[in-house]
This record gives sequence, structure tokens and C-alpha cells, in this order.
Amino acid sequence: MPEIKFVPDNASTHAETGENLLEVMVGAGVYIHAGCGGAGVCGKCQVKVLEGAVTTETLNKAARDKVKPGHTLACQTFVGENDLVIEIPDESRIRKMAVSQGEPVVKGQRIARAEIEAMMLSENPQPPVRKLAVQLTEPSVEDNTADLQRLTAALRATHGADVQDVDFHVLPVLPSLLREANWQATAAVVSGWPCRDASGEGGACRPDHLTRVQPGDTSARNLALAVDLGTTSVWVALMDANTRAVLAEAGDYNQQISFGEDVISRIIFSAKGDGLSELQKAAAGSINKLTQSVLDKAGASRGDVSFIAAAGNTTMTQLLLGIDARNIRLAPYIPAANQFPPVEAAQAGLDMPRGVMLYAFPCVASYVGGDIVAGVAAYGLHKRPEMTLYMDIGTNGEIVVGNSDFMMCASCSAGPAFEGGGLEFGMRATVGAVEGFAINPENLDEPMILTIGRAKPIGICGSGIITLLAELLQFGILQQNGKFNPDAPTRRVRQGAAGLEYVVVWKDDAGVDSDIVITEPDVDNLVRAKGAMFSGAHTLVEHVGLTMDTIERVVITGSFGNFVNLAKAVFIGLLPDIPADRFFYMRNGSLAGARLACVDRAFLRTCEEVSRMMTHVELSEAPAYMDKYMAAQFLPHTDAGLFPNVMQALRK
Ligand code: FES
Repeated sequence: MPEIKFVPDNASTHAETGENLLEVMVGAGVYIHAGCGGAGVCGKCQVKVLEGAVTTETLNKAARDKVKPGHTLACQTFVGENDLVIEIPDESRIRKMAVSQGEPVVKGQRIARAEIEAMMLSENPQPPVRKLAVQLTEPSVEDNTADLQRLTAALRATHGADVQDVDFHVLPVLPSLLREANWQATAAVVSGWPCRDASGEGGACRPDHLTRVQPGDTSARNLALAVDLGTTSVWVALMDANTRAVLAEAGDYNQQISFGEDVISRIIFSAKGDGLSELQKAAAGSINKLTQSVLDKAGASRGDVSFIAAAGNTTMTQLLLGIDARNIRLAPYIPAANQFPPVEAAQAGLDMPRGVMLYAFPCVASYVGGDIVAGVAAYGLHKRPEMTLYMDIGTNGEIVVGNSDFMMCASCSAGPAFEGGGLEFGMRATVGAVEGFAINPENLDEPMILTIGRAKPIGICGSGIITLLAELLQFGILQQNGKFNPDAPTRRVRQGAAGLEYVVVWKDDAGVDSDIVITEPDVDNLVRAKGAMFSGAHTLVEHVGLTMDTIERVVITGSFGNFVNLAKAVFIGLLPDIPADRFFYMRNGSLAGARLACVDRAFLRTCEEVSRMMTHVELSEAPAYMDKYMAAQFLPHTDAGLFPNVMQALRK
């Protein structure tokens, strides 16, 4: 990994080849001007490359005019193969003070897709839906076998497929399809779909099932959609089920948001009039829109898709499938099912041809759903010996404690704040979202800002919000009670419509027509959200007779984006104050599980096993939970003993 030195200040760090230089500087805590979030517009992040080779983006005219000869914009520069020496010119320094080096970003050890696949893919992965091409012999007086039997016999002879079930909709079109295609056809055959017997025990598989026939040989076009159906955000990945390649990915807010921000308000809405069908349409509409986007990106069509794997919490899953969700909210909180039978995607309102099958991940309880099962199974928690705390941080926060011996799980309602919902300038982790934020200790007025896609800032995503809160707390701009310090030495704290607020980006540097601010009601939302997550984890860990410091691994997942600074998440009291090397980060575990399901049918059975292994603890019935929740409504916590390192840093 190349070493990057910054002169004349003698700060240094290491970076990957291809990493953005401004991102490297934020990560290393090296502060310079960076007003436009890395969009290459303000021209303030100029540096000089003294040694080593870099690559740079072509600058636009406005930026070119601002950049001095021999200088380059850090935000438009990428680390090359070798070590670099970077000079930071006076004008890039904040009020010509020395560049100061703060704490480096702790991203946690990232659990990469390759690691997940190496651990969880079966030896000879086969997709749940295979597309099998066959050339049939034309019937004759001597060979008068019926069309369907001719097809299934050819599937057995050519591919060893033992088709025992056939969807009726295949039959009406089969005679003309086979004849018009000169008896060459491709059959979509579902294999290895798990099922439980009457006692609820798993292990059995449904027989091979013919769901669709296409003319000609389309076996090479076997696409699948992995869907993470979150309460706030929806993500879709288009997979090539044959090669296991991810062809495109897209995310957006769940259209159900206009009917309520959390699962409880959605369930209440679903019980009124056409509420259930409205919510089903909204969930399906979100997936349909993202599907179009990923198909366009990959130059593919809906006809190429054979299978959809959707991971969502129990409420989202039931609403997508059009199942009455009212009992999820009413004691004793009973879901309609924990395992869902195969269903055609079109039946759930998805814009797909007949015969495209939808797999809904199994759930554990009313508030521990298929999303956590998908993530835990993808991480392979059930196979690992280390005592692990797995936290899926989202609107419906889900927590698992355990290892290969046992798994206990619980859920808590954190609200949408960590996905950018419910905040004045919150947004999803997408282009233009502030994801990195660092305050220069020498000058509180000039923070360094980094946006996703290095575009002009238009809002703040979950990872940005965590870092922002921690930095404001660390520098005394925000107080431990969640209120801004009116005496903080920065002009960025000002009176707003809802009390004091902090200006994150001035209008001149923003991609929106106003200053981007974080308000005290925003902070209240965030403190409630982090308090719910931490107290849920704390209660569950104690429930199994452990303490936070005995946890060997903390795995964080959620739809924050790529840049969660775990040290900052500890600083605000969202995560436990334990050594940094115990933290791991898995970007969107739910989507990771859905991707595996698209390419390896053995993973479907793994998910069934994982869902059966997990024992649910109802936090609302745990007397300790409410006390812990109240105690966590402070930054980082009212019990300073739980956060010794944070408290030490705050006292400095
Ligand atoms: S031009 Fe690089 S941060 Fe503005």
C-alpha cells in the first residue's frame, strides 16, 4: 500500500491505489479547505504532488481557472501505485495555520463480498432457477408423445432435471411456442426450494418445478434480482445467476414512506380501507422502478429475469406479499408466517412475466425478519466460534448475539434517522450526500466535508450524520444533552426556526438553494435512534449473561453508505466502547444475503436453518430495556463507566 506523506507538516498515512486523495486526507485527519464536498468546483483543496505519480480527473473550466500552475485539486486526484509526497500550499491551509492531524477514520475491518462468497457459497453453486435449453425431436406418427411430456423428457435426458410440477400458465402457449421455435426451447426450472414439514422442521426440498418456457436458446440470459426491502430504503442488485456477477445496483427510498415512517404507522395504515393494497403497490412500485434502472444500466430486459430474492423485515415482507399485517402490532405479536411458500413475482405486483419466482426470506418473529436472517447467514455467524454482536442499524434495528452454538435476537425501533429520514437535510447514501466530516481543531469555522460521488453537497447521509454528531460533540459545539452550545466559538451555530442549529454547508458551496443545517430536533431524533440501538444491544448481551467487553466481534451493517467511521459511532454511544480491532463492517448484509440466494440454491436452505437457530427475545417485555433506553438518551451515555475512552477524550 503506498505511503502518502504531507509536507511540510510531516503527517503521513497509507492508502490504496486508486483512492481519492481528499478522502485519504479526511481519513488521516489531515485538514485542508474543501468547501464543495469534493465536487471539483470551489477550487479550494489545492495541493502539489512533489513525488510520485497520481491520476487526475479532467477539470471543468471553472475549476481550471482557479487551479494554480503545478497544483492539483485533491478531490479530483487519485493515488497511484507508488509512495507520494504531497505539499499543502499556504492557501489551502485554514488561515495559514499548520495542517493538523486528527484521529484517523476507523472504518472497521470490512467484510468484503469475496470473503462472504468464500465462506458461504457451496462447493458447486447452482442458481435456484436454472435455464435449461433443449432441442426436441419433432413429433411424428411413430412418436406421438404430447408436447409437455416431450419437453420434460428432453429436460431429463439432456440435463437430468426431474420435473414433477408444471405451472398451468405454461400449457396454453406451449404448442405454438414449440412449433414456431422449430422445437428449440429454454425451460426455467426451479430446484432445491426449501420447505418445512408439518412439525415446522426443515430439510426437505420441493421437487423440480417448471415455471416458464421461452422459444430458442436463452439459457445464457439467466438474470436474478436481489432485493433489500427496507422500511426506509430499498436496494436492488441485478445478478447474472450463471456467472454470479453483479451487473448493476440501485437504491431509493421506499415509496411506502408517504404512508408512515416506521413499521407501526404502516401497519395502522394497512388496516384502513384499501391500505394494504396501497402499501403493497408502493413496495412493488419501489422495486419496479429500481428494477428498470438496473436493467437499463445492464442493457437487459425483464424477460431475462428468472428469479427474485427479497429480504425485508417481517412487516415489509408481509406487505409486499399482500398479507394482513395487523397481528404483528397486537399482543402477542404473531406474524402470518415465518416461512413463505413460493409465489410468482407478478402476484406481489412486481412487473415481471409469468413464471418469474419470488423468494421471500424466512423470518424469526414479528420484528426480526428476513433481512436479518439474510445478513446473519451471509456473514456466516452460525459457523463462527467468536462471540459476536451483529447489529443491523436501520429504521427497524435488529440485533443478534451469538456464535456457532446459539443465536439470540431482538429488535428495536430506531426510526429512520440513520438512513437520513426525518431530518431536515437527511438523505440516502447517494451522490451529493455528505458522508465524511472533520472539524479542524485550529478553526471551528472551516470543517472539511466529503460527499459521495464528490458532488456538491445536497444533504447528509447516515454515515455523515454519525461523524457529524461525534465531531460536534468532541469539539464542544454540541453538548452531552444534545443541545448546541450557544457559546461555541463558531459562527456556524445560529438561531434557527426550531432552536439552535449548525450550518454544515453554506449555500454558496451547496448543491441546493439554501444552507445545509442540522437542527436540535434532528439531534433529538438521532439521540433517540442511537439510544434505541445501544440499549437493545446492551439488554440482549446481558440477557445471555455476558457483558459488552466480552464480545469478541461487533459486526455492523445497514444502508449508511461506504464510509461509516466506527470510532465516531462509539463516540456518540451508538456502539460499545471496546477495542477498535473488534469492529467489522458489512455493507448492507441484507442485500449480501439476497445476492447469495440469487446464485446458490444451497443458501436458501442455509437461511432456513439460520432462522430456526435464532431465539427471539421480546425487548418490550424485558424490564431492563426501558431503563437502559432512558439511560442512553445522552451523549454518549449517562453511565460514563460504559464509555471510559470516550469520556477520557471528552475531558481533554
Ligand atoms: S474543489 Fe476540491 S473540495 Fe472543492
